Amino acid sequence: MGVGLLFGFLLAAVARTLNHHASWKVEDCSKFASDTGGTGVTILDAAYIPQNASITIPTCRLVGRVPYGEKGNNSVIFELWLPSVEKYNGRFLVVGNGGMAGTIPTQVITLNLNQGYAVAGGNAGHLASENNGGSGAPGVYLPYMHDDEQVRAWIHNSIAYLTPPARQIATAFYRKAPKYSYYEGCSTGGAQGFALAQFHPGLFDGIVAKGPGNWYSHLALSFLYNAQVTQGSAFLPQTALDLITQAVLAKCDTIDGVEDGVLENPLLCDFDVASLECGSPGTTGNSSECLTPNQVSAARRIYSGPADARSGASLYPGFSVGSETEWMVQEGVLVEAFSIPILQNMLFDNLSYDAAQFDWGADVDALDARIGARIDAVSPDLSQLAAAGGKMIVLQGWADPLNAATWPIEHLRQLEASSGGDVGAWFRLFMIPGGGHCGAASHYPQVPAVWHALDAVARWVETGHAPTEILATDPADEGRAGKTSKLCPWPRTARFRGGNVNDWNSFVCEG
Ligand SMILES: *[C@@H]1O[C@H](CO)[C@@H](O)[C@H](O)[C@H]1NC(C)=O
Ligand SMILES: *[C@@H]1O[C@H](CO)[C@@H](O)[C@H](O)[C@H]1NC(C)=O
Ligand SMILES: *[C@@H]1O[C@H](CO)[C@@H](O)[C@H](O)[C@H]1NC(C)=O
Repeated sequence: MGVGLLFGFLLAAVARTLNHHASWKVEDCSKFASDTGGTGVTILDAAYIPQNASITIPTCRLVGRVPYGEKGNNSVIFELWLPSVEKYNGRFLVVGNGGMAGTIPTQVITLNLNQGYAVAGGNAGHLASENNGGSGAPGVYLPYMHDDEQVRAWIHNSIAYLTPPARQIATAFYRKAPKYSYYEGCSTGGAQGFALAQFHPGLFDGIVAKGPGNWYSHLALSFLYNAQVTQGSAFLPQTALDLITQAVLAKCDTIDGVEDGVLENPLLCDFDVASLECGSPGTTGNSSECLTPNQVSAARRIYSGPADARSGASLYPGFSVGSETEWMVQEGVLVEAFSIPILQNMLFDNLSYDAAQFDWGADVDALDARIGARIDAVSPDLSQLAAAGGKMIVLQGWADPLNAATWPIEHLRQLEASSGGDVGAWFRLFMIPGGGHCGAASHYPQVPAVWHALDAVARWVETGHAPTEILATDPADEGRAGKTSKLCPWPRTARFRGGNVNDWNSFVCEG
């Protein structure tokens, strides 16, 4: 036997030994599932998923149940998708929920799986059958809202229940702990991100919270208020909403130096909706070209947001100019899906409760004490996250029709006040001009609507390079498929410096 051949045999033997300790194969997913004891998780399903058109990496998909609570009958159902070791990027990611949750966000799971992440996501600790299929309605009993453990799991705790065991299972699969752990969520998922920072600060290396509904109880109040102020003759039909946005853009689009149908910073736009009142100079008296006094007053109220009837103190910020075209959801859909169900099921325990009776004083106090305490995550002090070395990126669309865009700005100021100054070493807010709720806004299809914040937080965590800009790609308008844009850490905004307006490199963050 020649030396070369002997050496070859030795290598093969070493490889076999190493292989024994190497990752499980995705093809052996079911066999692996029987090897996950000791995690407290019951595996409900395990399947090998070969590469296909939408799942571009061969995957081991597990469905598990992790019990929580004192009564012993509550559980979070979650899925954990493990990409083949060859395509695995060494990072563990948990993704959050939307709305009232109750379902597993598999679409977001697969998007990130395709990037090489081992990804988990859960149902937030209750089933969709307990929340009317994901959306409440007036007079409908929502069982999860009557189970205190499920209420607290929904936003505050469910991610923390599933994360350690899911991470442990991922570690067993690759026979190696993930190098980093990240969380990303939008809307309710953004609120879950703030809850992680506030209540479970050591769990993740990096958190991305988008369009955060972290002041959930008052977000529900803003839905109620906006619905109440647009009743009857104050109703703003779609034509009126479109009219307002067009007038806003005509006045303020070019403040940022580029005429692109988008406001870079709506706070700089000095627009008075009274200029559209029928009879004002430039209006015609045609109802699709002007607003009645009641409509003007309704729009003003939506811009200012609800206030405490006793003190006049703001209860939630109002909406920004340029966001009007999607306000229709504020005039009915959201109050029925969220505010009325929360008041009827959780605050008044009366399915006949008439929300028109809501007392914008005493009832606010009751809401804060009994509901806010269980579902909000608004602490101005997130220093424990900073102390644990965590990094957090928040994104908020200026044209988000659900969440008033300036709420995350207000909360940023609270964090700064609490920590005595700049928090940019561990927390950064990126505002998205023309951005909608968790993606594109209907009036701004030209705006790149995929925000690469997870890449940015991973780079921050792994290299220490804090994000000074974030890339946005993939506008809803397919005719602008190659357009990119630059998101800036607030209060900086993007300024055009010449060149191709569809290229993010033509902009610099200034301010
Ligand atoms: C768990 O048990 C409690 C107390 O018996 C009950 O009120 C609750 O409805 C149960 N929850 C579920 C999800 O079965
Ligand atoms: C009102 O204005 C709209 C839009 O400019 C136009 O289509 C419509 O014909 C006008 N109606 C009247 C009665 O002038
Ligand atoms: C429930 O609300 C309705 C409507 O506001 C009211 O008439 C009724 O008295 C309430 N029921 C209870 C038990 O408070």
